[in-house]
Amino acid sequence: MARRRDGSDGGAEGRVAGPLSGRVNLADHTLPPARIETARFVLQRWRVEDAPALTPILEENVAHLKPWIPWRVAAPGTLEEITARIEGWSRDFDEGRNFIWAIWVDGGRDLAGAVGIYPRDANGRVSIDRADRAEIGYWLSMRAAGHGYATDAAREVVRITTAMPRMIMIEMRCDPANEKSIAIPRRLGFHEVRRAAETPAAAGDPPEDTVVWALPLNSDSRA
Ligand SMILES: CC(C)(COP(=O)(O)OP(=O)(O)OC[C@H]1O[C@@H](n2cnc3c(N)ncnc32)[C@H](O)[C@@H]1OP(=O)(O)O)[C@@H](O)C(=O)NCCC(=O)NCCS
Repeated sequence: MARRRDGSDGGAEGRVAGPLSGRVNLADHTLPPARIETARFVLQRWRVEDAPALTPILEENVAHLKPWIPWRVAAPGTLEEITARIEGWSRDFDEGRNFIWAIWVDGGRDLAGAVGIYPRDANGRVSIDRADRAEIGYWLSMRAAGHGYATDAAREVVRITTAMPRMIMIEMRCDPANEKSIAIPRRLGFHEVRRAAETPAAAGDPPEDTVVWALPLNSDSRA
């Protein structure tokens, strides 16, 4: 049976432990763009005014999202609760902890889901000033699935991550049973590097089976 994920989440804040709770030094870092426009969609970093669009989507997509992304991201809530969640994502963006964008389709009118960059080092999630790699994550509403939006949005954040200083690798983590999700790094040229029981995000949770896909970056990919 599929288990709820908590590592590579499709739009989650990630593990809030260790260095993530420390002071972030952004002196040498330019934050990624707030808005990326492509022919088919717009990636826009979350804004509190997006809460009325996100609130019903979470209500309608519990069965679709809950098995695969952290409940703190997927859980439905009141407008006030969803606004507070978005404020947290926005703060994380400003402070270089992780970078999450909403995916808007249909000329920017329809909220389809989210895509994010989660900086890491070899041991886990860290803020951008300590990162030498990053994990990507994504989710779509059921209604928006099946059009290639997640693959294309993931491609955009791969491009953004590739341009960040010191990055040697981009990773994607997910439940080995999540075939729809695994298809995305496969399409983007990632390779499976390992399957492992990873440390759970919360104390008391059992270790979770995770498959890790990676895209090594080299000087050519930065050109
Ligand atoms: C993972 C998830 C984002 C994948 O969604 P998806 O719709 O399959 O992915 P894409 O948006 O890239 O769409 C790809 C599909 O659209 C099809 N498609 C249709 N039109 C397309 C177009 N113009 N361009 C590209 N693909 C297109 C592709 O053929 C593919 O279909 P297939 O799976 O039948 O081969 C989605 O299942 C989801 O949100 N799941 C719950 C959350 C989750 O698991 N997040 C990841 C945690 S690790």
